[in-house]
Amino acid sequence: MQNQLQAIIVSKQTSRWHRFDSQQAINEAAVQRILAAAQEAISARGRFSIVLAGGGTPKSVYGLLRNAQADWSKWHVYHNDDRCLPVDHVDRNSLMAREVWLNHVAIPANQVHDIPAELGPVEGAKAYAATVAGIDTFDLVLLGLGEDGHTASLFPGHVWDDSLDAFPVFNAPKPPSERISLSARRLSDTREVMFLVTGAGKQEAVDNWRNGVAIPATVIAPATGVDVYTFGVELK
Ligand code: 6PG
Repeated sequence: MQNQLQAIIVSKQTSRWHRFDSQQAINEAAVQRILAAAQEAISARGRFSIVLAGGGTPKSVYGLLRNAQADWSKWHVYHNDDRCLPVDHVDRNSLMAREVWLNHVAIPANQVHDIPAELGPVEGAKAYAATVAGIDTFDLVLLGLGEDGHTASLFPGHVWDDSLDAFPVFNAPKPPSERISLSARRLSDTREVMFLVTGAGKQEAVDNWRNGVAIPATVIAPATGVDVYTFGVELK
């Protein structure tokens, strides 16, 4: 595993870039960091709150977590966004996480918080805002990066109300058009952020990000900065 660390500051976001030479290397590094973050949080505060990324990139990481040893009883799992589809629809982010990982480890059922996106964007966002309202700073937020620079369901050209913890998304350019997303502010209220970015399709978004273009991923700005784990993209 080659891990080049470069720090770049875009607007008020500090990003640290980690380049890996294989899918296995990035997956293993991500799993190691997630498990370490969990141990640190549980030792310090008796619980670990993690916010999962959607899309396809994190699936292989979640698959490795299925076989990991952890104090699952202290894990509290949230999602950074989901698509407004039926609960059992193959494109639901919550279904993917459950099938490859969460249904196979002993996290108490009431500690896995799916976004009720089947209720539709407005009702689902209201319900999820209530779910996360009482939650202190997250411990770790996982995020993906879209080819257009979006993250979670924060899309270029869209306006979102950062006074909300969760908000409805309409006309998303990445189908389905209706989604629910945590806000940039809520996603930034965390001790740690890990972006997982793989594949040449993300090259333009990465170039824009590193060249100071204000893509939506740059609004995720926790005080501790963000770590971007990459494979298959060049860090020019
Ligand atoms: C979603 C995700 C979205 C995703 C990126 C990257 O619901 O689609 O939240 O933000 O993380 O679009 O998706 P891939 O990992 O599939 O490239």
